Amino acid sequence: FVVIGVGGSNNAARTVAEALDLPGGMKIVWAGNTLSPHAMNRMLARLEGRSVVIDCIAKNFETLEPGASFRVLRRYLCDRYGREEAARRILCTGTPGSPLEKLCAEQGYTFLPFPEPIGGRFTALSPVHLVPMAAAGADVAALCRGAEEMAAALRSLPAAQNPALRYAVLRHLLWQKGYRAELLSCFEPRMKGLFSWWEQLFAESEGKDGVGLLPVTGEFSEQLHSLGQFIQDGSHFLFETFLQIKEQQASLSLHPDGVQDGFGYLDDKDFEDLNRAAFSATRTAHSATLPCLTLTIDRVDEKNLGGLFYFFQFACYLSASLLGVNPFDQPGVEAYKGWMFRALGKPGA
Ligand code: PA5
Repeated sequence: FVVIGVGGSNNAARTVAEALDLPGGMKIVWAGNTLSPHAMNRMLARLEGRSVVIDCIAKNFETLEPGASFRVLRRYLCDRYGREEAARRILCTGTPGSPLEKLCAEQGYTFLPFPEPIGGRFTALSPVHLVPMAAAGADVAALCRGAEEMAAALRSLPAAQNPALRYAVLRHLLWQKGYRAELLSCFEPRMKGLFSWWEQLFAESEGKDGVGLLPVTGEFSEQLHSLGQFIQDGSHFLFETFLQIKEQQASLSLHPDGVQDGFGYLDDKDFEDLNRAAFSATRTAHSATLPCLTLTIDRVDEKNLGGLFYFFQFACYLSASLLGVNPFDQPGVEAYKGWMFRALGKPGA
C-alpha cells in the first residue's frame, strides 16, 4: 500500500504505522515525500514481487513531491497491470473540485474528499489518514474513540485541570520569558513518526509573523549522546517537554553470561528498568538548567494515539491563538513553493 503524500498528507498515518506492531496489516511504503531520484528508485525496488495499490493524498494537487511521484507510480502500475487493473488499484484523496478529482473522474480512479478548509496537519482524524492507518492494520475505531474521549474531556474540564489549556498557557508563558524552542523528548524510538507530525503541526501553525517557538525533538536515549550536551549545558533558549509512557509494554532481561564485562550491576535487570532509570535521571539533570514539562500517556496503542492527535491539535490551536497568529495557514511554505515553480517553469508561476 503505497502512500503518496508529504507533510500533513503523510505524517499522522506514518505515526501510527511506525508506533504500533500491526502484524495483520498491509506493508506500507511511503512515497511522494522526496525529490531524490535515489530515494525514489529505492522505493520502486521495494515494490518488486508484491501486489501494489496506491493512495495519492494531495490537498490541492500542486505540491511537487506528490505530483511527480504520482506520475511515476501511475506509469509503474499501468506497465505492470494494464490501464484497467491499474485504475482499480488507485485511490486518491484530495479537495473536491481540485484537478486531482477531475483526473480521477477521467481515469476511473477512486476519489476521497479531503476535509475543508484545514491544512493536512489538522487531518489526523479524517479519512486522509484513517484509510492508510486501516490499511496498515490499525484499529481505527479505537483510535477515533480515544480522540472522542479526549475531545469531551478538553471541552469540559475546568481550566486548572485542563491539560491542553495548561500546556498551551505554559508554552506561552515560557515564550514571554524569552524561551524560543521547545524540545519534545521520548525514550521510545517508535514515537519517531509522532515527532515528525508534532514538529510539522507546531512549526507550520505557529511559526509566522516573526513569532513562534521552534519545535525540535529528542530521540532518547540515543540523542542524549549528541544533543544531550547542548540541552544540559548550551545556550538557554529551549525548554523541554517529556512524553512519558506509564505502562511497561515490553520486556527483555539482562541475564548474566559468566563473562566479567564490568556490567555486573545489571544482572537480571530488565531493559525497561534501564530505560526508566534513564528517563528519571535525564529529567532530574535537565530540570537543573531548563524548564521541563511532562506529558504522560498510559500506553502506546490506537486509543492513546487518537487522544494524542486530538490533544496536540487542540493545544496547538490554543497556543497559536495566544500568540495572535492564524494556526490554519502556512504562507511561508507557499512562498518557497512559488520559487520552486518558477525555477521549473510552471506556467503562470
Ligand atoms: O499541513 C499542511 O497544510 C501542509 O503541510 C500540507 O499538508 C503539505 O504542504 C502537503 O500539501 P498537499 O497535500 O497539498 O500536497
